[in-house]
Amino acid sequence: MSPCVTSTNIPSEPPRLEISDPKKSTQYQECVNSLKLSKETMLKIGKIFHEEMELGLSLNPPKKSSLQMCNTYITQLPDGTEEGEFLALDLGGTNFRVLLLELSKGQLVREEVKHYHVPEALRLGHGITLFDYLAKCIYEFLKEHDLEKRRLPLGFTFSFPMDQRGLDSGVLVTWTKTFNCEGVVGEDAVKMLNDAIHRRGDLNVDVIAVLNDTTGTLIQGAYLDPACGIGLILGTGSNACYIEKAEKVLRWDGGKINGTEEVIVDIESGAFGDTGVLDFIRTDFDRELDRHSLLPESFTFEKYISGRYLGELARLIMVKLVNQRSLFAGVGSEKLLTPGGFTTRFISMIEADTINHSTDNVRIVLDELEVNFDADDINIVKDICYLVTDRSAKLVAITLATILERMNKPNSVTIAVDGSLFKLHPRLSTLIDKYIQEFAPGRKFSLLLAEDGSGKGAGLTAALALKMKNKL
Ligand code: GLC
Repeated sequence: MSPCVTSTNIPSEPPRLEISDPKKSTQYQECVNSLKLSKETMLKIGKIFHEEMELGLSLNPPKKSSLQMCNTYITQLPDGTEEGEFLALDLGGTNFRVLLLELSKGQLVREEVKHYHVPEALRLGHGITLFDYLAKCIYEFLKEHDLEKRRLPLGFTFSFPMDQRGLDSGVLVTWTKTFNCEGVVGEDAVKMLNDAIHRRGDLNVDVIAVLNDTTGTLIQGAYLDPACGIGLILGTGSNACYIEKAEKVLRWDGGKINGTEEVIVDIESGAFGDTGVLDFIRTDFDRELDRHSLLPESFTFEKYISGRYLGELARLIMVKLVNQRSLFAGVGSEKLLTPGGFTTRFISMIEADTINHSTDNVRIVLDELEVNFDADDINIVKDICYLVTDRSAKLVAITLATILERMNKPNSVTIAVDGSLFKLHPRLSTLIDKYIQEFAPGRKFSLLLAEDGSGKGAGLTAALALKMKNKL
């Protein structure tokens, strides 16, 4: 079976918006109008994204780009010759994972995984405590598998913006998502991990590669399909990477292998717009969401599209409508009025209703929210979930369409995607696929679910790193 996830059976149409009360209907339309982006606006965003990519790649840009365009130093894709046992770490969400991966002739023949929770106190505490915890988890994992004495190479997926100075060096630029530990910004995450490992004194692992989750996803995608050229994460956060011509990448502090033709560039697209270039699409809801976020005034684009924020955006729209007395008869519940009270999981559930012409899920969600509702309320809530989904899909699609145009490949380019939002939302992939076709007409591409790119991709990258190091 093809691992391609885009299904033509899933309708992309919005729900039928029937609001019996004309006043409510007008108020509703006025409230959500700013979330609707025309094709003209989308093409303008595409043009800006392209300019920002160019600026981000320049050594002395005339103005600052919101895109970091980080050199990952990964200049090779898996070619079926990868061999050996590798440890992989995956840090970026609320779970931390340790994996043991065994590759034989490029094929994954063994995989052991263990998940460890990273509580808020660690995510917001001191960096040293966080890295000590990671080292402790590695030790426990190895002990469980009787591997404490073994010397193993390790690939570290650290899904935050890094300034990479080589395959095994990544300086944290800023925290994002749910992390904000003291003492790590400006430091090399690999060094901090190595220091924690040495502090223990009972581990024998070599951190040979650090990577972003998008990079891991692209690598895992290339393992599944050699036509893979783009990696995308749509989960708690969002970001993309792609294969760029090496001559376009000017920062090679860690050394460039002679004859390098291509290299993966981590765009850090979640920060697109941080310089203000996208302010023309910013709504009052976006501003409010940003004000109350963990890291305000940063990762503007991510806040429009990713799993951490879509539910909250929908909630803010509902709260405004309640205050205008055009939803739930003007009465909100404590849950609805509490930040985080409406999660992105609810959006996925309600969108499934829209696809199935049902109201079962929306009723479950509204009961859970403890609000009283009528038929108009159901239709409005369904429409809000569609609108925030649709805007997210359009914004993701315009960046992908721009990358595809820029890569200008004659053959189809596979876009490897991973992340909880992408996997759990019933039709985000259908919408993204539709909009890429609209924004990059004639470009051949396919979306591929590259599950666990940040885990398996880290193991594969460690294997690639060994091969690349031998060439340096
Ligand atoms: C955030 C991080 C980025 C990561 C993305 C998805 O945007 O800055 O590095 O790839 O989340 O996890």
